[in-house]
Amino acid sequence: MITIENVTVRDGDTLRLDDVSMTLEKGVFAALVGESGSGKSTLLRVLSGFLPFAKGKVSVAGISLAAGATPEATKVALRRACVLVLQDANLFPHLDVTTNVTLALRHVCGLGAQEAEARAHATLDRLGLAPKRTAMPESLSGGQAQRVALARALVLKPKVLLLDEPTSALDPKRKVEIAAIFREQAEAGTTVIAVTHDEGLSNAAHARYTMAAGKLTDA
Ligand SMILES: Nc1ncnc2c1ncn2[C@@H]1O[C@H](COP(=O)(O)OP(=O)(O)OP(=O)(O)O)[C@@H](O)[C@H]1O
Ligand SMILES: [Mg+2]
Repeated sequence: MITIENVTVRDGDTLRLDDVSMTLEKGVFAALVGESGSGKSTLLRVLSGFLPFAKGKVSVAGISLAAGATPEATKVALRRACVLVLQDANLFPHLDVTTNVTLALRHVCGLGAQEAEARAHATLDRLGLAPKRTAMPESLSGGQAQRVALARALVLKPKVLLLDEPTSALDPKRKVEIAAIFREQAEAGTTVIAVTHDEGLSNAAHARYTMAAGKLTDA
């Protein structure tokens, strides 16, 4: 589902990713750990087509990316297959929680209002957000907003789900619940990569990779 072959990202003379290779099968939940500044977010940005790379090859959900600029059509295809959730929730401030979650289901996946809402509610409930269905984003705590952002991604059931520190704002009990949800989503067919500093989350993953100074190891 994801293959990365000898990918290098340069920033002037500095290597932000240094000859990185990785293969992940469908249905795997992988944790990506490593020191601050080691290149973890950089790798997620490469996989989601936002950051061009200097050397190597990438394939995500059957979509190939080559070195250099990514064509617009490839970016559009990638946006459907692969969802990136950043640490900052980035909810639409003028839309309530349910509408934030149904938006892409309705306008990208083409679901009707009722079906989109039913799926959104099921996912919100699963994440402990049943009482917040009609809340506006400004009234949410940091951890609640982070879970709404996760709900918005999970509900799409993408082929590939990339998560940048998805549990950073959550309390310990929620962290454990969310780790189980990522595992379930993977076992239902989504390939999940979570960048994390959270031991519990990385222990719950099927596979663990470590980034150090732009180099990746599977340990
Ligand atoms: N837009 C950018 N332009 C230039 N250099 C950048 C940019 N973004 C990140 N970097 C550099 O690339 C390196 C890797 O950054 P990256 O954000 O991938 O680290 P990280 O492993 O995600 O760290 P953290 O755990 O702190 O989020 C760092 O040295 C960083 O300073
Ligand atoms: Mg980062």
